[in-house]
Amino acid sequence: MNNVAVVTIDGPSGVGKGTLAQYLTCKTGFHLLDSGAIYRALAYGAVANQLALDDVASLEKLATELPVEFKATSIIYQDADVTSKVRTEEVAAVASTVAAIPEVRAALLERQKAFAESPGLIADGRDMGTVVFPAAPVKIYLTASAEVRAERRVKQLKTQGIDANIAQITQDIRERDERDANRKAAPLRPAEDAVVIDTSDLNIQDVCQKAESLLWEKGLMK
Ligand code: DC
Repeated sequence: MNNVAVVTIDGPSGVGKGTLAQYLTCKTGFHLLDSGAIYRALAYGAVANQLALDDVASLEKLATELPVEFKATSIIYQDADVTSKVRTEEVAAVASTVAAIPEVRAALLERQKAFAESPGLIADGRDMGTVVFPAAPVKIYLTASAEVRAERRVKQLKTQGIDANIAQITQDIRERDERDANRKAAPLRPAEDAVVIDTSDLNIQDVCQKAESLLWEKGLMK
């Protein structure tokens, strides 16, 4: 796995990391690591098992044994398809809380590193470039204002027929940013060698083009 090309994409929620990661995965034929989905699956499991969110020993044990599998675009937890269940705002809030526990992060580290297989990996998360793959040749950090991200989330929910309150979503995003950026373990921040792209005034096609040019420059695409 040492010589496998890894592209890291980090940044706060709702900034377009998932869309960019999928785009680059299609373009390169690399594997995809959606590390947020691992934290969400852990959160889902914690709630299903009625674990207290400060019960570090039980959360660490669950993280070590986490019965989650990724099959194409589906997330399978103990043989049940939980793809849409882990995408709720409630699960996201629990994920952000359990993700702040250093023991939990350490328990998930090797599992994430194992995704780096030939021909390469597109790794989407918060600490991909800083902690999980610090030697990655291409590191991208996406950013955008909380308001812009909330608007995008509301639009996305509308397409799913879900009515959302923009003020509430903006507040949820701010709270999650605050927790993710201020935690001691692997806080959300760009790696020193990351290319930072502010997506506030860009459409997703522009973001994908910029990222793709970076991969060309680094010789990761032919
Ligand atoms: O990317 P996402 O919204 O699916 O992530 C859900 C939560 O998981 C997010 O609030 C922070 C946490 N997370 C993390 O701490 N580290 C990662 N590499 C990915 C996600």
